[in-house]
Amino acid sequence: MTIRAVVRGVGHYLPERVVPNAEFEKSLDTSDEWIRSRSGIERRHFAAEGQTTSDLATRAARAALADAGIGASDLDAIVLATSTPDLTFPAAATMVQAALGMEGGFAFDVQAVCAGFIYALANANALIVSGQARRVLVIGAETFSRLMDWEDRSTCVLFGDGAGALVLEAQEGKGIAADRGILAVDLHSDGRFKDILYVDGGVSTGTSGHLRMQGREVFRHAVEKLAATAETALEKLGLSPGEIDWLVPHQANLRIIKGTAQKMGIPLDRVVITVQDHGNTSAASIPLALSIGKERGQIRTGDLLLLEAIGGGLTWGAVILRW
Ligand code: ACO
Repeated sequence: MTIRAVVRGVGHYLPERVVPNAEFEKSLDTSDEWIRSRSGIERRHFAAEGQTTSDLATRAARAALADAGIGASDLDAIVLATSTPDLTFPAAATMVQAALGMEGGFAFDVQAVCAGFIYALANANALIVSGQARRVLVIGAETFSRLMDWEDRSTCVLFGDGAGALVLEAQEGKGIAADRGILAVDLHSDGRFKDILYVDGGVSTGTSGHLRMQGREVFRHAVEKLAATAETALEKLGLSPGEIDWLVPHQANLRIIKGTAQKMGIPLDRVVITVQDHGNTSAASIPLALSIGKERGQIRTGDLLLLEAIGGGLTWGAVILRW
């Protein structure tokens, strides 16, 4: 018998305010056409004034708990992937814990920028397979609009706010690739690439700072590293890309998504794509894509999913999950 971390519920939340590309034409030398053709993004959601990452995370968490048919008191742990916590500390996860009325268990944040949800899933999986937790709420939530330099057209048009969540539960499997749940994980980071994607603020500067990115360099690393980590995760199970039902990539840029799918030989009709509707929501993008993909009827019980992401650090990785 093998213990597997199996998805029991999924949910998401996008803030009410929708900002179409055309809105940036009023304040920047840019165009809807440029943004669409370079990134695939058509609109994004921005959090309202005073609405924080833990607010978004709590809304997504409630939706996932409702989908799972359980309450917060049934959870053993909350793992929240974010690079935009409400405060430097405590962890936004503990704020979600309080908002949900969960008095037992434990909650913590994982910070791996856009790869954060992959890292959070790896942590939650380890807690479940080692027997330390039976039910774990895994959330990706971000308010990247708070990190934008609104005069930098090369970054501020690309990002948005949102949250998505999964309830993972320990269930018995047979130890084979036909099991439901998390089947393989592959994680990487390389701190030598800090300067191509970072935020120029924090405790050392006394400001929360702005996102700085060398877009072309990030693009170059993204396609190559995402395809490599996905292939490593598949090799761990002896599977080929042709056996994947859905590629669920980090939703940063349509050109990166297409480039990676093409490199792996996965046709676009087997890729869940949501970036056009919410831009790059960093750690929230994969759970958003999972939740929206399920709503659209694309992702069904038993489907084999390949999740992959890359973010600041650089950090990157992949998870293979049977839904
Ligand atoms: N509107 C109009 N022109 C613009 C804009 C804009 N919003 N932004 C940049 N430009 C200009 C540049 O100034 C440049 O002009 P120049 O040639 O006169 O200097 C020109 O467009 C081309 O700029 P490039 O950076 O070469 O454009 P590129 O085709 O590489 O596209 C982009 C830029 C979209 C950022 C691309 O490099 C990219 O997608 N990179 C990956 C970024 C990404 O997705 N990061 C997130 C992944 S990691 C994470 O999620 C944290």
